[in-house]
Amino acid sequence: MSTPQVRAGLAEQAPRHFPESFVWGVATSAYQIEGAPDADGRGRSIWDTFSHIPGKIADATTGDVAADHYHRFREDVALMAELGVAAYRFSISWPRVFPTGRGRLNPAGLDFYSRLVDELVAHGIRPYPTLYHWDLPQALEDAGGWPNRDTASYFADYARAVTERLGDRAEMITTLNEPWCSAFLGYASGLHAPGRRSRADAYAAVHHLLLAHGLGVQAIRSVLGETRPVAITLNPSVVRAASDSAADLDAARHVDGISNRIFLDPLARGRYPADVVEDLRHITDFSFVRDGDLAVIAAPIDAVGVNYYQPARVAAAPPGAATGAARWLNDPHSAAETAEWPGTDLAVAVPQDGPYTAMRWRIEPEGFTELLLRLSRDYPGVPLVVTENGAAFDDVVGPDGAVHDEGRVDYLRAHLSAVQDGLAAGADVRGYFLWSFLDNFEWAWGLSQRFGIVHVDFDTQQRRVKDSGRFYAAVIAANSVPDA
Ligand code: FCB
Repeated sequence: MSTPQVRAGLAEQAPRHFPESFVWGVATSAYQIEGAPDADGRGRSIWDTFSHIPGKIADATTGDVAADHYHRFREDVALMAELGVAAYRFSISWPRVFPTGRGRLNPAGLDFYSRLVDELVAHGIRPYPTLYHWDLPQALEDAGGWPNRDTASYFADYARAVTERLGDRAEMITTLNEPWCSAFLGYASGLHAPGRRSRADAYAAVHHLLLAHGLGVQAIRSVLGETRPVAITLNPSVVRAASDSAADLDAARHVDGISNRIFLDPLARGRYPADVVEDLRHITDFSFVRDGDLAVIAAPIDAVGVNYYQPARVAAAPPGAATGAARWLNDPHSAAETAEWPGTDLAVAVPQDGPYTAMRWRIEPEGFTELLLRLSRDYPGVPLVVTENGAAFDDVVGPDGAVHDEGRVDYLRAHLSAVQDGLAAGADVRGYFLWSFLDNFEWAWGLSQRFGIVHVDFDTQQRRVKDSGRFYAAVIAANSVPDA
């Protein structure tokens, strides 16, 4: 018979189960996997343009073929089913639906997503579409892009068209993926499409993206009422000050403001944070905000999607350091030590210690728990869904034909435990979508960074489930993290 101490010890080691209703999924996005840029009347997006500009993509690849998912989606859905995946987060390509972003609808573009959704449902996999994962129709960029307010209304029209066709079969509809990246990497640092460099434009883009979300929610609800949950996905930063100096602590407050609260406060509280508006007086006067906008943006939603990869470390910008140059620590074209924080001349990003993934992103699962708890504390009552988490490693196909990606298995084990720590401490997390199902086109890094739990040979398009894919299947089957 065991003593109480032994029993207590065993209880501590017993695998922790996720809640019964916890949703296990995988995530991808349209431009990163689909290829088929000219199929069935698709128009051009800003990523088609950008990826073809010499020097923009680290390995000079494009998304023209990517994982050829447009032609292979049945095989891919079958593979998801084989792994026991319960839900699939994918994005819809706006220029497949409206080739010029507005006006003439292209039914053949929607047909593709309808076939995909049917295939998922037939395999018992719940569809989680995202309407906008960065591929703005080029024609709308030509008309001013996200700094132009009209783009928000066109987004609402697009949201309505997609919802009318797919809404009845969607489990949840997400308006935007990571508007921070669209606004700041697209319009301030220029590292992402459309590659523009104006801080003032980036803040106009922030507001119009939020407005697009709000108008999109209205459009979705006008079709579906409250019958389906609606969400937005953010990539909130866990911002740490590089030192305890007053200047660095203030830089951390500022970066938290322009990266996190500038999205979360309008969405959850219907206002922009006062300190952010004050900080940015030399960049923008927020005159793009019109009466009634914030009420539209703050309309209740059912969940916030959270993407987590790594924390951030920031310091006050040394005087004269800010040049407006488009650099930051994730710039594949720069080996610089410190870098401007996109959208500001008041703070810089500073390097963090390892361990690192292949992207040189710091591996720090504790930051994940911290983020989930912070969101639950500061924005109570908003359920969270992890819509992305995962890691790139330099995977190789071994002589046995398999991909033994221990690094990714360790990463996933640690980060899933971090989610459990968050749940145990009270964070309201409803699901986890692993980034990514397939190796894919990693934006400015091209095909050089592999995030998949399924390996893709980009020459033959052969799929191979990596060890991490088998590990994830075991997690899903057990609804807990198996012992090492
Ligand atoms: C996120 C993006 C996703 C992918 C991962 C690695 O910021 O939403 O498309 O690139 O990073």
